[in-house]
Amino acid sequence: MSFSFEYVDSIIDRTTDCIEKNGDFNINDKLYVGVDLGTAYIVLVVLDSKGNPIATELQYAEVVRDGLVVDYSRACSIVRELKGKLENRLGVELVNAAIAMPPGVNNKSVATHRYVAESAGFEVLNVIEEPEAANYILNIDNGAVVDVGGGTTGIAIFNNGKMIYTADEPTGGTHFTLTIAGNYGISFNEAENKKKDKNNSKEIFRIVLPVIQKVGSIISKHIKDYNVDLICLVGGTVCLDGFENVVEKETNVHTIKPKNPFLVTPLGIAMSLVENNKN
Ligand SMILES: Nc1ncnc2c1ncn2[C@@H]1O[C@H](COP(=O)(O)OP(=O)(O)OP(=O)(O)O)[C@@H](O)[C@H]1O
Ligand SMILES: [Mg+2]
Repeated sequence: MSFSFEYVDSIIDRTTDCIEKNGDFNINDKLYVGVDLGTAYIVLVVLDSKGNPIATELQYAEVVRDGLVVDYSRACSIVRELKGKLENRLGVELVNAAIAMPPGVNNKSVATHRYVAESAGFEVLNVIEEPEAANYILNIDNGAVVDVGGGTTGIAIFNNGKMIYTADEPTGGTHFTLTIAGNYGISFNEAENKKKDKNNSKEIFRIVLPVIQKVGSIISKHIKDYNVDLICLVGGTVCLDGFENVVEKETNVHTIKPKNPFLVTPLGIAMSLVENNKN
């Protein structure tokens, strides 16, 4: 099966460029913000009403664990700070926001995420599930979208463009980092840096192979009752070279990932608002 990442790769590149430099926008246009409260990163992405990336801010923060906000006041202050940075950069107030949750979290957790965004001054217009958000960018009609973030692996299965199943499991990048830390006898932070350094990719791959295989077996378990013949991986953790090949071998399902899988979900959160507000 062929699938083109041309659009995905280009809009992700533009969103990444927007970390450094604003995109052009009309001051009277409606702007939409995707707020992604992740286990590893808090990311805010601003899109114009046509879905063009305008500005991106992100910060590494450990305020969420397995989809739950564990440091409420710090989460609020970081979101407020990032919102302020974006508003300073753009010279406009940002109000319209969407948030996303790992599939299956309870209503209380959803409410807490919402309060975090609202406390920063956002109006939350949409709440969606993380892999569902990713598919606003990937546009996969038939297949599974799997978001391997810092804390969890979220899975959504699509059939004829409709989301028919979602699940979330507590395995993510943190487990990869812990495995590396244990292997070398180094700190979590050192292991995190080692993991992301492309110069170590062969050695790291060997060490984390069992964890990638575990992600593969998690995916297999969730797709087994569905007719899935394509898996698309997103999330920071699948940046690891060769991740998709291991998942393909483990699941026996054709597995692909975009050139840069990192910002797909936060971008998709913002894109959900653009799509919902199209006339
Ligand atoms: N180049 C890289 N190679 C390997 N891992 C990476 C790379 N870049 C980021 N990561 C890992 O990706 C994870 C963060 O990904 P992401 O931002 O998608 O997660 P999150 O949204 O914060 O977490 P979650 O969705 O689980 O709440 C971290 O564990 C980080 O170490
Ligand atoms: Mg995430």
